Amino acid sequence: TGIANAFKDDFFVGTAISKTRMMTPPDGFHDLVAREFNAMTMENDMKWERLHPEPDTYHWDIADTFVDFCEQHGMFAVGHVLVWHSQTPRWVFNHPDGTPLSRSDLLARMKNHIDTVAGRYKGRIQAWDVVNEAIDEDKGWRKSPWFNQIGADFVDHAFQYARAAAPEAHLLYNDYNMHNPGKRQFVVEMVERFKKNGTPIDGIGMQGHIGLGYPDIQEFEKSIEAYAATGCAVHITELDLDVLPVAWEHMGAEISDNFAYSDELNPYAEGLPDDVQQQLTERYVEWFKLFLKHRNKIARVTFWGTGDGESWKNGFPVRGRTNYPLLFDRDYQRKPAYDAVTSLK
Ligand code: XIL
Repeated sequence: TGIANAFKDDFFVGTAISKTRMMTPPDGFHDLVAREFNAMTMENDMKWERLHPEPDTYHWDIADTFVDFCEQHGMFAVGHVLVWHSQTPRWVFNHPDGTPLSRSDLLARMKNHIDTVAGRYKGRIQAWDVVNEAIDEDKGWRKSPWFNQIGADFVDHAFQYARAAAPEAHLLYNDYNMHNPGKRQFVVEMVERFKKNGTPIDGIGMQGHIGLGYPDIQEFEKSIEAYAATGCAVHITELDLDVLPVAWEHMGAEISDNFAYSDELNPYAEGLPDDVQQQLTERYVEWFKLFLKHRNKIARVTFWGTGDGESWKNGFPVRGRTNYPLLFDRDYQRKPAYDAVTSLK
């Protein structure tokens, strides 16, 4: 039983878990997670702002509970995330008086965080998202404080520090819109440079925040092939399938603020119509057929949440919507897409 079991000869199937569902789960939720999935990621609570909100303060209780849970249930534990521009406190980049840290001071701070966090879970976290979202589509490096204050080799250093702190962990570069040809080329060149310089990397994370009409599945497939050709394992790290109207003109445009709510942008508040349910099912089948076709390249497929009610897609990029992006509904009942996907096996 369980979706992970259905794909056990192909890839891990994982879920992302929130603080609430880790610490105070609804009845039966932990049993469901342990039965259905064999990989797990913390949705927010291993991000810098949660784990390390002040220079000398670490909060370990949620992450410790998560790692214990994974260990107890034999799940592949994914650490998300060591270095990112988002959900990272401002103090990380600055002196107390507000002046920016020098390159070497910021590298030392990064190393200290990676040593502390990855070191604590050495041998117990199987894969780390070492760097998240460092590339800005086809415009090259994202102009984050990491890039601005250190330079492009902040990525190399992060991977080197992570390997030293947790030698057995698979080290991943993770990003969204990884089907985008410009980003694909940039990522492949980055990995090739790593290989030449001896910088460690084991996998590429394709987040997989997809929708009914995007992205182009052929471009996504080209990326799976290109990333695998570098010698990296491909991980689908944050799969969900948005069924609501697209709220920005160009996927991948910089989103600084959530778009304002309007009823027009929330058409299924009363429930998902059968024809859209059907489209969701067909689209999930199409994606899992692609994953199965590349089962020798794909190490893991992780959903970004378990039930529709808990998905971040109810709040992004428009707050207060009713979305249906996952395989379990708001009562944790299997949706038609669950049955269709599992019966591919
Ligand atoms: C999201 C969480 O799901 C939300 O709860 C939070 O408010 C914002 O972050 N890319 C990532 C994830 O790598 O960490 C993001 O998770 C979704 C996009």
